[in-house]
Amino acid sequence: MKILVTGGAGFIGSNFVRYILREHPGYKVVNLDKLTYAGNLENLKGVEGNPDYTFVQGDILDAKLITSLLEGTHPATSRQPLTAIINFAAESHVDRSIEDPASFVKTNVLGTQVLLDAARKAWASHPSSLIPHPCFIQVSTDEVYGSLGATGYFTEETSLAPNSPYSASKTGADLMVRAYHETFGFPGIITRCSNNYGPYHFPEKLIPLIITNALEGKPLPVYGDGQNVRDWLHVEDHCSAIDAVLHKGKTGEVYNIGGNNEWKNIDIVNLICDILDSKIPPSPPFSKGGTGGISFRQLITFVKDRPGHDRRYAIDSSKIKKDLGWTPKYTFEQGLKETIDWFLENREWWQGIKSGEYLKYYEKNYMSR
Ligand code: NAD
Ligand code: DAU
Repeated sequence: MKILVTGGAGFIGSNFVRYILREHPGYKVVNLDKLTYAGNLENLKGVEGNPDYTFVQGDILDAKLITSLLEGTHPATSRQPLTAIINFAAESHVDRSIEDPASFVKTNVLGTQVLLDAARKAWASHPSSLIPHPCFIQVSTDEVYGSLGATGYFTEETSLAPNSPYSASKTGADLMVRAYHETFGFPGIITRCSNNYGPYHFPEKLIPLIITNALEGKPLPVYGDGQNVRDWLHVEDHCSAIDAVLHKGKTGEVYNIGGNNEWKNIDIVNLICDILDSKIPPSPPFSKGGTGGISFRQLITFVKDRPGHDRRYAIDSSKIKKDLGWTPKYTFEQGLKETIDWFLENREWWQGIKSGEYLKYYEKNYMSR
């Protein structure tokens, strides 16, 4: 396969690039990423030298660039048209969407439409023998379904009821994929996943923020009453689900992906504190940790709630399990411990991000070329 991955320098995209090159040797992967504040080429250390991998800095709103990549006229695609697109590129943080909804509409809605249109035209212009099974996967989110009460699950048939500018923009993109399929017979597939966690998770999201703030001795902010529920899935399990959709998914379909792993925010924060307490001896510079009666829990601070904060997400993944044979591999206990170890072992990565250092890395290595 020759795959265009967009947003492959972000959290999930970079894990997916690594996953697909490891699991499918010989596949060609072109990673198109604008390198916004959330895109970080350090996430891809180790794959940069792989001859099957190419990085292109660019915007999914740039139709000309996308067309040249898809048709194989861009140097990065070595005259080989790309036959699959996996669209991870997005503005992804709910809190930022409350501050600046416009950039979410631009990238998430318009950017997806530009990609769809370029792919539709490029794939139509080639003989079907060259592109026998084109496929466009829109990486969407459970947030398009809105919020649940104390019981029940989102299925693929649940009506769309987004509550934040972020989730509204992701819904707009999903509807555009659906419309291209219905109108043009375009081979689009939508995946809707729950909250991911794991290595390279950008430290503005709950789990990495709590781990890194704790290690820095900073307050651990919990919104509202901390009783909001999320369904957490290890990023590797999300990658294997997309792999299953890429190889076995049916165009025009929607697949929910979730961990069947619901946690109240406050319980996760407490759990992270307890794991850190057990790992870090009660000596400076982590004087809050350890077993001497002092706990990271003392850093927990309840703060003002997020406006429009969805109360509960829970995903029914029975369709992808039954139709495509996907199952998650990680237990939350194992996944969270490994993730905490990863953050302990990769302090330079997150300290660089939190200090803004990594932006200098781009300027030095990429902007001057
Ligand atoms: P992220 O914010 O970590 O990464 C997004 C990437 O997209 C970055 O590398 C950024 O530079 C790139 N990007 C942004 N705008 C771009 C543009 N205009 N052109 C090209 N590249 C651009 O996001 P993530 O958490 O890895 O999420 C990836 C995708 O998965 C998103 O579409 C998100 O909606 C979806 N998703 C995320 C989660 C989650 O828990 N993080 C869960 C379900 C679905
Ligand atoms: O459900 C999938 C979605 O999960 C993805 O589509 C989004 O891209 C991704 O960012 C994530 O959205 P959430 O808003 O659920 O994730 P976040 O990590 O921002 O917040 C998780 C929960 O923790 C949520 O209920 C808000 C709360 N929270 C978050 C932060 C950053 C806090 O209590 N304190 C915080 O500081």
